[in-house]
Amino acid sequence: MPKIEELINEIKKLKKEKNAVILGHNYMDYSVQLVSDFTGDSYDLALKKTDAKIIVFAGVYFMAEQAAALNPDKKVLSPDPNAGCSLSDSLDPETLKRYKELYPNAPVVLYVNTSIYTKALADYIVTSSTAVKVVKKLNSDVIIFGPDANLANYVERQTGKKIVKVPPNGRCIVHANYTRQLVELARRKYPNAILMAHPESPLEVLQAADFVGSTNQMIQFAKESKYNEFIVATEIGMINALQLKVPNKKFYPLVTTESCACARCPYMAMITLEKIKRSLEEEIYEVRVPLEVAQKAKEAFERTVRLLEKS
Ligand code: 13P
Ligand code: SF4
Repeated sequence: MPKIEELINEIKKLKKEKNAVILGHNYMDYSVQLVSDFTGDSYDLALKKTDAKIIVFAGVYFMAEQAAALNPDKKVLSPDPNAGCSLSDSLDPETLKRYKELYPNAPVVLYVNTSIYTKALADYIVTSSTAVKVVKKLNSDVIIFGPDANLANYVERQTGKKIVKVPPNGRCIVHANYTRQLVELARRKYPNAILMAHPESPLEVLQAADFVGSTNQMIQFAKESKYNEFIVATEIGMINALQLKVPNKKFYPLVTTESCACARCPYMAMITLEKIKRSLEEEIYEVRVPLEVAQKAKEAFERTVRLLEKS
């Protein structure tokens, strides 16, 4: 039996034995998506409810951290705690505190790609699918927003509000490489395809896109669209999620691993089947978040949900 199938079977067995579930981000390798009980975007997975005793988070570390904060009664495991994120790493609590002192009346809206310690200082926590809605609903014309400057620019354009970016230049090392020129090349190569872009991409790419949304929103849009072919401006693992969930349509990455090393997020790529198996066997690496920090971050999540539910 090929090694990959063996690993998949062993992981499935371990999940049953240990009463564990695997939450897998949409960017995971195809094989990791196959062993995941739920796949989704970072916000969706954070709010997932489960009866299992153990959650293995197949995604980057800030995602495992927020699962631990929101599920204090579960054991949350990260297969590789070194799987960071350039956005999450770009904003620390001390920097955010300084901005809060500079703009004491401005609500703090943080993108979900932040550490739990930074989230604990936020008023609202958003994903790319909720950022514009939340900022529009806030009763303030000045908003502190971080850490993604591209998403901040997009929100500023869509809402007309003054967005104070913290840090001024936070970037995702994958999406920051996309350009209008790459879009034009892809459009020439795939003349029947329309372009879906993740809002972490630069504004020039978002302006050229036919659809802008989070990874879950891309799946939804592709399912419902009358079009059958899509150029996808986001991390290349997303092609796996789209092919699994929308098997009757065609998806082309804006950049491939052959054309640019930036196609694959090096942090997401650190989560492998081998590491997931070891994580389940040895129950490593447990992610612990101090209760007080977890409570504050949880309040910010709940405040956001309440705001979004308000008409
Ligand atoms: P989503 O929340 O859209 O899944 O994006 C997470 C991420 O890391 C994008 O690079
Ligand atoms: Fe972070 Fe970018 Fe990787 Fe997403 S793709 S985890 S934003 S570095």
